[in-house]
Amino acid sequence: MAENKKPWSGRFGEATAKSVETFTCSLHYDSRLYRYDIEGSIAHAAMLAESKILSRKDEKAIVRGLKGILGDIEKGVLAFDPADEDIHMAVEKELIRRIGPAGGKLHTARSRNDQIALDVRLYLRAEIDGIVALLGALQGRLVETAKKEMQTVMPGYTHLQKAQPVLLAHYLMAFAEMFSRDAGRLADCRKRVNVLPLGAAALAGTGLPIDRHCAARLLDFPQVSRNSMDTVADRDHIAEFIFAAALVMMHLSRFCEDLVLWSSDEFGFAEIADAYTTGSSIMPQKKNPDIAELIRGKTARVYGDLVALLTLLKGLPMTYNRDLQEDKEPLFDAVDTVKDCLSIFTEMLAHTVFNAQRMRAAAAGGFSTATDIAEYLVEKGVPFRQAHEIVGGIVAYCLQSRRTLEDLTLGEYQSFHAGFDEAILSRISPENSVNARRTYGGTAQAAVRERIREFEKKLGRK
Ligand code: ARG
Repeated sequence: MAENKKPWSGRFGEATAKSVETFTCSLHYDSRLYRYDIEGSIAHAAMLAESKILSRKDEKAIVRGLKGILGDIEKGVLAFDPADEDIHMAVEKELIRRIGPAGGKLHTARSRNDQIALDVRLYLRAEIDGIVALLGALQGRLVETAKKEMQTVMPGYTHLQKAQPVLLAHYLMAFAEMFSRDAGRLADCRKRVNVLPLGAAALAGTGLPIDRHCAARLLDFPQVSRNSMDTVADRDHIAEFIFAAALVMMHLSRFCEDLVLWSSDEFGFAEIADAYTTGSSIMPQKKNPDIAELIRGKTARVYGDLVALLTLLKGLPMTYNRDLQEDKEPLFDAVDTVKDCLSIFTEMLAHTVFNAQRMRAAAAGGFSTATDIAEYLVEKGVPFRQAHEIVGGIVAYCLQSRRTLEDLTLGEYQSFHAGFDEAILSRISPENSVNARRTYGGTAQAAVRERIREFEKKLGRK
């Protein structure tokens, strides 16, 4: 039983094998939870004292000891022994070393099963707030950029074929909508994270007269969990969080995909500043959109984190199983990845310029205002299906005669339908096409401006 005595040593005749200590150890990654582990233990000790299970004297010694440990970890002067298995055992052992037997009273009415559940909930609650703030900054950046690009007309695509002209501002605000939903999803997930698990103990609750609501108050949880077995088995909130993180990544990735395309010579719609791109080690002319590509690539990691967690959970018998220790690396990876990607993306976007001329020229091509001609005929009383057919004929005529919709004469239009008049010639410019789409949620300047106004109000900027 030599150098590292385990808390369970009473029942064991042999020391743990070194290889087992290494294999079961989670300290190298769960030590990042130290602050929450200590915060939770301080509240637990206060609750035990409040419930008269622990003397005030012992409580004081424990709290002082824990605060000392926190300070030393933060100063970087306390190194844990990997044989301590996890952050809970490492902190407890250090506490007992510092304050003696009173330290052994901290784990009263508690198990590592409800302790880890608590640590993760405290950690995730704080991280969600940080990620929501990053999403807010990105939405703010998108709104700012959209306000600058209210005159910029670009081709809107479906199937990556030119479809209809839109405002670049409308495109940017589309992503603001996505990131706003992401923030909403995280806020919703936070409600289910924000529940006190402490008191579930190993799985059945405790026979000691603890006050769970007191612990909840101390740790600022509006609710306590309602079933001790569920409490130690539940990782739903982690799965939910990673799913929400995966959607953030998917949205970033789609934006990045467009930026990669737009940075190409073929599109030439956008240029990312030198400081936010990289070069080639062999081709001197290259400037590559590596940040955008890496964000697209890192999306795969977060999807992997989600699948790892769901797979981890699917076959577990009730309640706690050691498998659950494997929930932390995917969670931490998802948190780190989504935070890194959100901050670098927002920075990169602030250093990207859009080429309004190239966008405008591209918007004019590809017969992208053909729908406007059909809508014009509808206004003249032509049934939409028939109008579609007539305009299809006009496009075919242009293709044969190498013309564009803009350089056909009124006479040519009239040869397809007698209802055409002068107005058609201006109707088909990309700007007029855009500004015709005035209904709520459309791409007309008035509609986009209205949505930006609402959005700013929601972001609390106006
Ligand atoms: N390190 C463990 C985990 O992350 C803490 C809980 C351990 N509980 C136990 N009974 N072995 O899940």
